[in-house]
Amino acid sequence: MASLDFSGKRVLVAGGTSGINLGVAEGFAKASAAVFVFSRDAAKVGAAVERLSAHGGRAGGGAADVRDMGAVEGVVARAAAEMGGLDVVISGAAGNFLALVNGMSSNAFRTVMEIDLLGTFHVMRAVFPHLTKPGASVVNITAPQSWRAMSGQGHVCAAKAGVDQLTRTLALEWGHHGVRINSVSPGPIADSGGVARLYSDEAALERRRASIPLERLGSNEDIANMCLFLASDMAGYVTGALIPVDGGAGLTMEAMRLDPRIGARGGNA
Ligand code: HXC
Repeated sequence: MASLDFSGKRVLVAGGTSGINLGVAEGFAKASAAVFVFSRDAAKVGAAVERLSAHGGRAGGGAADVRDMGAVEGVVARAAAEMGGLDVVISGAAGNFLALVNGMSSNAFRTVMEIDLLGTFHVMRAVFPHLTKPGASVVNITAPQSWRAMSGQGHVCAAKAGVDQLTRTLALEWGHHGVRINSVSPGPIADSGGVARLYSDEAALERRRASIPLERLGSNEDIANMCLFLASDMAGYVTGALIPVDGGAGLTMEAMRLDPRIGARGGNA
């Protein structure tokens, strides 16, 4: 249960219609914020808005593909108009599949770069004019792939490293506007798309769980709580940081090495 109060705050979550990002949106809804989510799938947007509304606050949503700058600008402008501005932005739209670089087409690599990295750039460009200045807080959802090499994840490693450097650059460029921006890197989160892709085999997942210093997988609420903290005044001197929320998993992570003989389309995507 969130203990921070976001009454009167306006929160936008890009990619917030499923998985970890929806969990973060729910964290803000439970903390009494007005929340607006978007993703490319209109059906998921409708379901997410219904779920967020159940927490009693104001919830809205729209459909836009983060790869399309015009569409992102449109949906962000709508969110800002409906809520009266933006105090908090969480940007987490991402795409992933397992494939070795040698087996990946140019379009496959480009697709993930465009969703994860170009998409983050689009969201950052679109939200800035609408942010509360000073005082706004932006969080990019990144991944351990940004600093840890993993075979089968070359596209994601490259894209997420780019996202983190964009976060740091914007901390430099936005600091004097009084806008803070940080990256949150979720570790293995139970029931997430990332864990489902990386650990298709129960035994491998159990070995991984046992190796985590806190001896459990994370939850969406763990990630939401860090985002709530970063968006609050309690984090008023935190910007440009990359914060793992992983139970210490990054300290014990073995370099992931897929069987190099896997096919062009990966092992379990
Ligand atoms: C090799 C693949 C592939 C695979 C797709 N491609 N899957 N190549 N192995 N398993 C190739 C396609 O063949 C195509 O290239 C290109 O990628 C684009 O694929 P499309 O299906 O046309 O693209 P699109 O419909 O936009 O789909 C995007 C997607 C898809 C990312 C590729 O997987 C998707 O929508 N996934 C759902 C969202 C998602 O992945 N969420 C996970 C978030 S978890 P060609 O050359 O054939 O045209 C996450 C956390 C990161 O990201 C950390 C994890 C631990």
